[in-house]
Amino acid sequence: MLSNQVVLVTGAAGDLGNAMAVHLAKAGASVVMWDIQPETAAQKRIEAVQAAGKLLHYAQVDVRDRVAVDAAMDALHQVDIVCSNAGIVEAQPFLEVSQENWQNHLDINLTGCFNVGQSAARKMVASKTQGRIILTSSWVGAIPWPEITPYSVSKAGVNMLTKQMARELATYGIRVNAIAPGIVQAGLAGRQLREEPQYAARVAKVIPLGTPGTASEIAEAVVYLASPQTAYMTGSILTLDGGCSLFQFDAPD
Ligand SMILES: NC(=O)c1ccc[n+]([C@@H]2O[C@H](COP(=O)([O-])OP(=O)(O)OC[C@H]3O[C@@H](n4cnc5c(N)ncnc54)[C@H](O)[C@@H]3O)[C@@H](O)[C@H]2O)c1
Repeated sequence: MLSNQVVLVTGAAGDLGNAMAVHLAKAGASVVMWDIQPETAAQKRIEAVQAAGKLLHYAQVDVRDRVAVDAAMDALHQVDIVCSNAGIVEAQPFLEVSQENWQNHLDINLTGCFNVGQSAARKMVASKTQGRIILTSSWVGAIPWPEITPYSVSKAGVNMLTKQMARELATYGIRVNAIAPGIVQAGLAGRQLREEPQYAARVAKVIPLGTPGTASEIAEAVVYLASPQTAYMTGSILTLDGGCSLFQFDAPD
């Protein structure tokens, strides 16, 4: 379905990004993986993509570093689909949020998407590529959740960045959408479920469909956003959250 398409995934050594890279490779795309982790640390993730299909290369790129992002983008001979997915979360109650915690979330989760999104869009416009840009948001970009103010605010920014980019890039045929996962039993939330008992207790109450999602479920939705089936979709936030964003009768503290 995605043969002859070059797809770039950031945060591709992490759980969701790697699942996206694997599923996009399975769908026939040629994959470029970026992550802040060195290649040696990402070896298993690299092999997973190679086993699934075609990996073009892995590059260590910090999405906060605009010079590095532009240089790595320039090095790509073609880019048709971009999944700007790198992100972090570090929970702190609002009254204790440090300046550093606040800034880190904005720099990586939001400015990282701006850097990768603008750099990719400039390349697509220059090469007359009617590409796809898919930003990773979160259900908490629209719904507040305890102890992650900087994270939620960064994802709210990603939602508006998606719409702004979609509005201005439509004229070039570039579609920009976001995926908004709910609580996934992997990656950032997977770690919180393991390490933060109060988080796990809240999660047990709030998923109408009963269980956290999987990285594969999120990745399949990303393949859908990358596919010709969604050619008429731009500026949308596709939420996969097991119903978390619906009204909660038994809201947690
Ligand atoms: N896991 C969930 O439940 C969940 C829910 C909603 C949204 N998300 C979003 O999904 C995305 C992926 O997260 P994940 O859950 O797979 O976590 P993860 O920690 O497994 O993956 C995140 C990846 O981003 C990389 N990264 C961090 N800072 C970077 C930087 N400055 N430059 C480049 N790469 C960097 C990390 O090295 C890591 O490989 C994030 O944007 C996250 O906010 C996750």
